[in-house]
Amino acid sequence: MLADKDRIFTNLYGLDDWRLSGARRRGDWDGTKDLILKGRDWIVEQIKESGLRGRGGAGFPTGLKWSFMPKQSDRPTYLAVNADESEPGTCKDRDIMRHDPQKLVEGALLASVGMGVHHCYIYIRGEFYNEAQRLQAAIDEAYAAGLIGKDACGSGYEFDIYLHRGAGAYICGEETALLESLEGHKGMPRLKPPFPAAVGVYGCPTTVNNVETIAVAPTILRRGAGWFAGIGRPKNSGTKIFCISGHVAAPCNVEEEMGIPLKELIERHAGGVRGGWDNLLAVIPGGSSVPVLPKSICDTVLMDFDSLQAVQSGLGTAAVIVMDKSTDIVKAIARLSEFYKHESCGQCTPCREGTGWMWRVMERMVKGNASAAEIDMLLNVSYEIEGHTICALGDAAAWPIQGLIRHFRPEMERRIIEYREAATRRRVAA
Ligand SMILES: Cc1cc2nc3c(=O)[nH]c(=O)nc-3n(C[C@H](O)[C@H](O)[C@H](O)COP(=O)(O)O)c2cc1C
Repeated sequence: MLADKDRIFTNLYGLDDWRLSGARRRGDWDGTKDLILKGRDWIVEQIKESGLRGRGGAGFPTGLKWSFMPKQSDRPTYLAVNADESEPGTCKDRDIMRHDPQKLVEGALLASVGMGVHHCYIYIRGEFYNEAQRLQAAIDEAYAAGLIGKDACGSGYEFDIYLHRGAGAYICGEETALLESLEGHKGMPRLKPPFPAAVGVYGCPTTVNNVETIAVAPTILRRGAGWFAGIGRPKNSGTKIFCISGHVAAPCNVEEEMGIPLKELIERHAGGVRGGWDNLLAVIPGGSSVPVLPKSICDTVLMDFDSLQAVQSGLGTAAVIVMDKSTDIVKAIARLSEFYKHESCGQCTPCREGTGWMWRVMERMVKGNASAAEIDMLLNVSYEIEGHTICALGDAAAWPIQGLIRHFRPEMERRIIEYREAATRRRVAA
């Protein structure tokens, strides 16, 4: 369990003042000038040593990503903070921005110094109207106090932040679709390579990072890489905000140690599963994209990147969606299929056609109006989508169905048998 002294987001629940005065009392912007003056290489080395992995879903090592930015560039370079937060179940970046926005502003500055960047865009999802207002107020306060701008913190480093509001499309959270949208185009993912570090926004080198990834950087630099690396497990270090929702007594966001057992996380912080742990059916451990896990795995699994990958799921955005035995699990996954069909940008054929096809079959699976052979056909179609699209939305649509079939195939078969038997009874009665 995370000790209070190791908590980064000390105003996660908004109980204290979110303004600059409150943030400073909590330790933000303390000695930032000294951190800037330690220089670019020191910042990147510290982040590498801390073991920080991206909090936006894929878990890519952050220090390594920052090191990809060119040392010399005849074009401007950019940091794009991904505040699109649209993965169902996920609501952590929102709380950072409304309750602790200075952590993001200071993090954007220090990350940018680490990459030699002087301009940062924060791309915030359109529906976050209040959060955008608050974040803009925080940016304005930081400018007024000289913390960012022409001479950030009196260090001589010039740094500007622009807040850009999106228009409410899930796909715009995908990093290259985000860049397209930022440029004023339709949010459609780009082919990679070239990667954003070479060709990003306006054709210039750009790094895209999640809000939480950026917001933890100042505390890591202040307290030291070793401190962060000492929390959690090797290659899965640090603290993490988990978003616990669904059939629990007290849904919440909570910052915890990476690698905390899932059962402990739910029981300690969310008041436990409705009706007790034995009433648990399944958990989606990392936002709607990752495969669902049955209770038998939830009993012992640890909440970090590698542990969840080992059980064929993922930490994703760490949005823990809890489902008790009252859940119609086939219907729940079918609802996610509808979401992905709706959010597909339509650029890649496997995703455009496949998400709609899978959703229609899933709707029949809910009723049992299918043949048993179609379960394998559904699985095969999901494999044809996975890995065959420009961006990972195709994977995100395929994985929930693969998880369902892996763990709940008997439930799907039961529905098919019952549907058949009912149809036969109706025929006989007629
Ligand atoms: C369909 C789709 C939606 C995504 N949405 C988000 C999002 O809302 N926020 C986010 O930070 N990353 C999102 N990502 C991941 C980003 O592409 C990217 O990996 C991330 O912003 C990198 O930041 P990180 O290295 O700090 O994790 C999404 C990816 C896909 C495929």
